[in-house]
Amino acid sequence: MASSTLRPEDQDRLDEQDVARRLLDSSAKLSYDPVTEVDWDTPLDKDFHGASPEWSTLYGTAYWNELTDAQRKELTRQEAASVASTGIWFEMILQQMVLRDIYTTDATDPRFQWALTEIADECRHSIMFARGAAKLGAPAYRPRRAVVELGRAFKTLAFGEAAYAAILVAEEVLDVMQRDWMRDERVAPFVRTINNIHVVEESRHMKFARDETRKRLRHAGPLRRQLNAFVIAVASYFIVTSMVNRKVYENAGLDTRRALAEAGSNEHHKSLMRSSCSGLMEFLASARLLTKPALALYKRANLI
Ligand SMILES: [Fe+2]
Ligand SMILES: [Fe+2]
Repeated sequence: MASSTLRPEDQDRLDEQDVARRLLDSSAKLSYDPVTEVDWDTPLDKDFHGASPEWSTLYGTAYWNELTDAQRKELTRQEAASVASTGIWFEMILQQMVLRDIYTTDATDPRFQWALTEIADECRHSIMFARGAAKLGAPAYRPRRAVVELGRAFKTLAFGEAAYAAILVAEEVLDVMQRDWMRDERVAPFVRTINNIHVVEESRHMKFARDETRKRLRHAGPLRRQLNAFVIAVASYFIVTSMVNRKVYENAGLDTRRALAEAGSNEHHKSLMRSSCSGLMEFLASARLLTKPALALYKRANLI
């Protein structure tokens, strides 16, 4: 049967299955096992940063200028470990949302199989981030209690475009940082490998999250769009503001009060976040998810 004679919804389903099949093929060709790919055995060399220094929350501040090279490196190692820990937190939320989403779907459908592949990726990622953070000499960083509880509600209740757009935001924000860190020779080699693995595997997840967001919004009325745009923005706000835990400064041997004050007004870091999130904001605008209240929250989180 010629595709032009199909009903639009059937054509959409065939297109989506086609995308899922391609994602599965790509995953079969290029996926990593962090247990064997990452150098876990070589002891941590403290001559390396944990992240590109330009990404430090203190880079460009007066405090940063006063720090010794060793202090700066310890700080970026703690910050990278915090980002990895926040990644684990969000990947746990994400795995549950995707699993709930496919609970009753057809297991023979490539879309079902792709969703499980994505969950399997995230499961390996979280183990990789956990080992990476431990190797960086960091404790288990967790978001604030209230944010942990909000996450608990979100992972239990969010569905449709709210779930997939929030997934996309978390993945995009990690992606822009990790792309810089994986190429940076000042960053510890094992951290670069971790970031490289994550960037490669997440590019497939982001394609899926973008498609799912658009798909779920296809028939959304104005009220649903407004409501979910706001929910997505709230989720994004807490994901982004939880990336660097306030305890990193103390664990890097710094004065927490001064560090928090200077990080909070660090224009360099804010403009770095804004410029690296421009692609994401363009997508949200094209999906008509940049409503007024949502925009206000993205501005507060320095994403736009
Ligand atoms: Fe991941
Ligand atoms: Fe992902």
